[in-house]
Amino acid sequence: MRYTEDLIEEVRARNDIVDVISGYVKLTRKGSNYFGLCPFHNEKSPSFSVSPGKQMYYCFGCGAGGNVYTFLMEYENFTFQEALKSLADRAGIQLPEAELSEEERRERDVRGEILKMNKLAAKYYYYQLRTQNGKAGYAYLKKRELSEETIRKFGLGYSTKYRDDLYRYLKKQGFSDELLRQSGLITADEKNGIYDKFWNRVMFPIMDVNNRVIGFGGRVMGDAKPKYLNSPETKAFDKSRNLYGLNFARLARKPQMIICEGYMDVIALHQAGFTQAVASLGTALTTQQAMLLKRYTDKVLLTYDSDEAGVKAALRAIPLLKEAGISVRVINMRPYKDPDEFIKNLGAEEFQKRMDEAENSFLYELSTLEKKYDLKDPEGKTAFQTEAAGKLLEFPEEMERNNYIEAVAEKYHMGYENLKRRVNELGNRGYVPQKKEASPERREKAREKEDGMRTSQRLLLTWLLEKPSVYPQIEEYITPEDFTEELYRKIADMLFEQLRMGEVNPARIISRFAEPEEQKEAAALFNARIHPIEKKEEQEKAVLETVLRVKKNSLDVWAKQLDVTDISGFQRLIQARGELQKLEKLHISVD
Ligand code: UTP
Ligand code: MN
Repeated sequence: MRYTEDLIEEVRARNDIVDVISGYVKLTRKGSNYFGLCPFHNEKSPSFSVSPGKQMYYCFGCGAGGNVYTFLMEYENFTFQEALKSLADRAGIQLPEAELSEEERRERDVRGEILKMNKLAAKYYYYQLRTQNGKAGYAYLKKRELSEETIRKFGLGYSTKYRDDLYRYLKKQGFSDELLRQSGLITADEKNGIYDKFWNRVMFPIMDVNNRVIGFGGRVMGDAKPKYLNSPETKAFDKSRNLYGLNFARLARKPQMIICEGYMDVIALHQAGFTQAVASLGTALTTQQAMLLKRYTDKVLLTYDSDEAGVKAALRAIPLLKEAGISVRVINMRPYKDPDEFIKNLGAEEFQKRMDEAENSFLYELSTLEKKYDLKDPEGKTAFQTEAAGKLLEFPEEMERNNYIEAVAEKYHMGYENLKRRVNELGNRGYVPQKKEASPERREKAREKEDGMRTSQRLLLTWLLEKPSVYPQIEEYITPEDFTEELYRKIADMLFEQLRMGEVNPARIISRFAEPEEQKEAAALFNARIHPIEKKEEQEKAVLETVLRVKKNSLDVWAKQLDVTDISGFQRLIQARGELQKLEKLHISVD
């Protein structure tokens, strides 16, 4: 950590979370909390809450949550340092430079140095394209029908055939080997020594929204593999949080953005006048990219390749975009593979037509689903209809759902009333539409989270937050080590300390976690509600059961780890199990 914990806490405490978030979200007071529409997912009724007491926010809809730092990191894409800086400025607190450790200062500098090197490299490649050495590159771009203006706009360039041309150039500018290696522009290995990452390729500089060159893509001019080589992730280049072409597209003032797959597609689209086109950076679209787009638009057209891989990519991207609150339509480019080829063959006007005819993403998903079934066979047809009916439950609002039922019934000749009845039947049976393409990792995580043992540990922390008076009663039985989940153990460690000092401060605990993911989980915990159990005696019973479950699990884990020859370990375990009996008889009061 770069700054002391006290300073981080001071900055946090001097920025009231309600004030800060009010700058982004319209909040209304309800009881002791504030509510508004969640900026992290699409919703029509407010489930985003901000608690002035806890100095935290939490969305009951999507689970986003944290303290004022988390909010800025998530909303503004800030790093922790940037969030700290911005909040310190806001509160008029001078951040002491001296508190930077040597290493931290170097790290911050590295990012700036990489940006400098990238800028020089981009200029260098750009210059080479127009020299004798760059003739092949220039000819290639011309063959791809790029105009002089387009080449200039995108800063396209060429890396020469010499293995260490750029290296020597940057070296002359005074950059150290270590920095050059960290820029990703230069590779070093024992066998070949130091050499340029890119050579004999047409170069595409990748810029962030502020027009800073953060990395490169380089294309071979023939059929060699790999077709494109990309900069590795560096301190300046995060592929999941940037989009190629967004620096231009965000200024396009068009009613929607176009997402395509490749650098060349973006460039061809811009050249044809579709300056609202962007592409992800050689990887599948991410949630962060969807959220980034949402800042500029709420409508997107997908023009992914028309091959199988492109369809798959579209099916993955649709739920991500929808979750970010973006409505999606899909362009049909057949018989051509990608927008670049389409425009070359049919021109911009035809492409505009295809944009106007783009298919609603729900209907697009259904038509890809349809291909799995044989609709001529009654069995296949029934199965498809059931799946379609189930999928229609994705729309929680009746009017919207009915509109879709109508569209689907018409398209697949199903009969509106029949289909509606089927949808309602499934709904009443509690059928949950499978969001097939919604990131499997996330579902996996959700399942893991509900794992019983974790639930007990989380519940115990929540009880202690709600009823701090419970703590002194169980203090002698439960320690942070009993929390076998690492995240919960860390939280317990800090929370117990605060409980002993008699001052619970959840927002402070959150600041101690470096990763927004961890902050979010901690926030979820601090905002969990105990299911209201009316009677005091029942609450007391519930707390005791939770304490027992946590303790028993902890002893089980301990027992499993014990070595059979560890006699004294077993003695201690037996003693601890004995104390468990005492704990079972404990009376806990929840006043
Ligand atoms: P495509 O193979 O569809 O490329 O890859 P393209 O844009 O149509 O390229 P051209 O028209 O043949 O020049 C789409 C994107 O996937 C990434 C690149 O970002 C590319 O723009 N990609 C592709 C790679 O990163 N490496 C590869 O080897 C291929
Ligand atoms: Mn192409």
